[in-house]
Amino acid sequence: MPQWTALIAGATGAIGGALAGHLATEPNWRVLGVCRKPPKHPIKGIQYIHTDLMNADACRTAIAGHTDITHVFFCGRAPHDDRGRESIENNLIILGNVIDAAAAASRHLAHVNLVQGGKYYGVHVGPFPNPAREDDPRTVTPNFYYDQEDLLRSRSKESQWSWSAARPNTLLHFSPDNPRNLVSTLGAYAALCREIGIPLDFPAGEGSYTSLVQVTTTTLLARGMAWMATHEPARNNAFNLTNGDVFRWSRLWPQLADAFGIRCGTARPVALAEVMPDWEGAWHRVVKRHGLLDRPLATLANWAFADATLMRWWDEILSTNKARDFGFHDWDDSERRFMAILQQYRQAKLLP
Ligand SMILES: NC(=O)c1ccc[n+]([C@@H]2O[C@H](COP(=O)([O-])OP(=O)(O)OC[C@H]3O[C@@H](n4cnc5c(N)ncnc54)[C@H](OP(=O)(O)O)[C@@H]3O)[C@@H](O)[C@H]2O)c1
Repeated sequence: MPQWTALIAGATGAIGGALAGHLATEPNWRVLGVCRKPPKHPIKGIQYIHTDLMNADACRTAIAGHTDITHVFFCGRAPHDDRGRESIENNLIILGNVIDAAAAASRHLAHVNLVQGGKYYGVHVGPFPNPAREDDPRTVTPNFYYDQEDLLRSRSKESQWSWSAARPNTLLHFSPDNPRNLVSTLGAYAALCREIGIPLDFPAGEGSYTSLVQVTTTTLLARGMAWMATHEPARNNAFNLTNGDVFRWSRLWPQLADAFGIRCGTARPVALAEVMPDWEGAWHRVVKRHGLLDRPLATLANWAFADATLMRWWDEILSTNKARDFGFHDWDDSERRFMAILQQYRQAKLLP
């Protein structure tokens, strides 16, 4: 008999999917997964609830029967607005609606966990105090993480549930349906460099090539979120959750070149979002030659995402001391994990 029931908002997303996969293997958890569209690859043991979290009434009705919810994990992300920005208003609405619905359905609601990220410290904007600590001051850049955390803090005070927040940095994950993925995007880039017959140049500046980077494997993140949501001393706290190690692209790049049997090039800044869509024809040749699944390049590679991530020439480190201090000692080897996930894409016939 499971001890806890998790309601995962955003259960088909990069993080929600990893969390759902993890909790489904844990005997202590029953798992409800909220999303709008049916999952392409449903996870065994998850009960999916399809509703639009922007619609408070629909959300309340869809969740109403679930009187045993003990934990809400908020892993949703409202789509970008018309101007391509992450809407603070919409991200607040979907968080508020799911909390209201879960609290109305279940008097056992004990905890709400929120996923934030390195953007809390402005990792995407420019140099920031490194390693970033959870109690560092917020930045001047508006960010829905701040508003969502404030909502949790104030609502928790009036309720019987506690809260926690996980702060991963850039994710490492195998997600065949999500092109916002560094491994599949850079794997496609390397495959195209080989096809075109050029070395594997690093598509950003020397500073980005040699600065220190930290990433978070989603399976580790899932374990960390489950830990903080059930570990009493962690209540009402935020925790950085990264692999705990650091790497430089200049160390990983030769390994990527080796994996494709091409020469490692040099750091030469170029906007991949501008140039790579022109190589769709070359991608078709790659697909044919290597017998890959015939899917458009855009399902595998998000060039703008890679540009925005690789252009950071500053160190990007989130201290993991607090999580360790509170008892979470999990870690991962980022370089090894990157290469292992690349191998998963190859085995799935998505990359050559
Ligand atoms: N991805 C990263 O690199 C990264 C890194 C650090 C932190 N984060 C943070 O982690 C959080 C989750 O990000 P993610 O990348 O895992 O998200 P994601 O892959 O974009 O997934 C979003 C999820 O939210 C659901 N969703 C969106 N709008 C909804 C609505 N109105 N009603 C119901 N479900 C809705 C989606 O389901 P449908 O498609 O069915 O609507 C999907 O399951 C965000 O706060 C993000 O900023 C992400």
